[in-house]
Amino acid sequence: MEEIIIDKSLKKPDRYQLLLSQVTSLIRGETDLIASLSNVAAVLKYGMDFFWVGFYLVKTSPAASGNAEELVLGPFQGPVACTRIGFGRGVCGTSWKEKRVIIVDDVEKFPGHIACSGESRSEIVLPVFNKSKKVVMVLDVDSTELSAFDVTDKEFLEKIIGLIEEKLQ
Ligand code: SME
Repeated sequence: MEEIIIDKSLKKPDRYQLLLSQVTSLIRGETDLIASLSNVAAVLKYGMDFFWVGFYLVKTSPAASGNAEELVLGPFQGPVACTRIGFGRGVCGTSWKEKRVIIVDDVEKFPGHIACSGESRSEIVLPVFNKSKKVVMVLDVDSTELSAFDVTDKEFLEKIIGLIEEKLQ
């Protein structure tokens, strides 16, 4: 097991690039999805100094009749968070519903934003697809700074998600 060391003097793209190669070697060969997601959350949280990093997994809702699904909190790093998010609810549920990456510069300006922590100011949410192109989870990253996320984050987080998607059926 190699230790993850991130040079915090590096600029954002260089930091992500380093991190990407570390994530690649860290999850290569690991067949347990939760173990891989857990380490990805840790690498992103500590490598990029994000406030909160975590996965919400699409699961069948026990409370719902029929086959209704919802997002349920999965591996994460950071403060305690909401455990269940409905389809189309908040930034996470919207990313799931619309199957697209959502960058929110100011969470107070996103209608329906779910505030798990009052310290969160901006966020990026990315859907994760299985081989059938179904969204099976989302990656949510939060910052205490306004407008913390841009196309560089989108580009590199998509690459990290690509590594996870390779493991999905
Ligand atoms: N803000 C998210 C909820 C998850 S927490 O930020 C960890 C949302 O609006 O979906």
